[in-house]
Amino acid sequence: MTVHFIGAGPGAPDLLTLRGRDLIAASPVCLYAGSLIPRAVLGHCPEGARIVNTAPLDLDAIMAEITRAHEAGQDVARLHSGDLSVWSAMGEQLRRLRAAHIPFTVTPGVPAFAAAAAALEAELTLPTLGQSLVLTRTPGRASSMPPAENLTAFAATGATLAIHLSIHNLARVVADLMPQYGADCPVAVVWRASWPDQRIVRATLSTIEEAVGDTMERTALILVGRVLGAQDFAESSLYATGYDRRFRPRKAQSAR
Ligand SMILES: C[S@@+](CC[C@H](N)C(=O)[O-])C[C@H]1O[C@@H](n2cnc3c(N)ncnc32)[C@H](O)[C@@H]1O
Repeated sequence: MTVHFIGAGPGAPDLLTLRGRDLIAASPVCLYAGSLIPRAVLGHCPEGARIVNTAPLDLDAIMAEITRAHEAGQDVARLHSGDLSVWSAMGEQLRRLRAAHIPFTVTPGVPAFAAAAAALEAELTLPTLGQSLVLTRTPGRASSMPPAENLTAFAATGATLAIHLSIHNLARVVADLMPQYGADCPVAVVWRASWPDQRIVRATLSTIEEAVGDTMERTALILVGRVLGAQDFAESSLYATGYDRRFRPRKAQSAR
């Protein structure tokens, strides 16, 4: 018996890896984080599978479900939205599974920031303009932040920011970033990237609050940085005609 942690992607059911799909299809138990997992993904579960929405459960109740499957020798597909490496609460579950000697695997998924960038048709690292991407959030009711991890500190680097779980804190985001990034810095908010009702608002730091208005939907990513919408950037050396590299050698010794 194995618990398969599977990144279920940003919402579109076909943004699930083939490995994830096959593990779901082979597992008689499926535990899924209900708020962001599309019903269509659950369509991969085998007939008669026990399918449990873990949104209303606490960690003890989730572990009770896993323990029950373990005792019955049944594999579990454990689905979280996006990828598992960020804000999935997988870490605390793995710690309990290690302590209980229950085997598990981890299958990555498409993270929300990648789906949002795709929706914007944007590369988030452009030569000379931005070469770093910070995945972050603002403090929430359930999660405080380590003191040094704050938007003002990240703003000092000028990196592109992908701010999660924070659309309700938009005024604070703007106030924290304005001094470093400037009023005209491009901002995009993408709600429910890859879902049929995906919505995009593009603006600047000075206009984003008005542009967003009083939208209640909270599944949104705030992207901030000069790379957004930029056309005035250098081409990368990688594909420059005269650039000498191993896969496109200009000199005999480069091909080795
Ligand atoms: C609990 S975190 C989960 C992040 C997820 N593990 C990932 O890899 O993206 C939930 C937050 O991710 C962002 N998010 C998740 N899915 C999204 C989507 N389809 N479109 C926009 N933002 C999304 C939102 O900021 C949301 O509040």
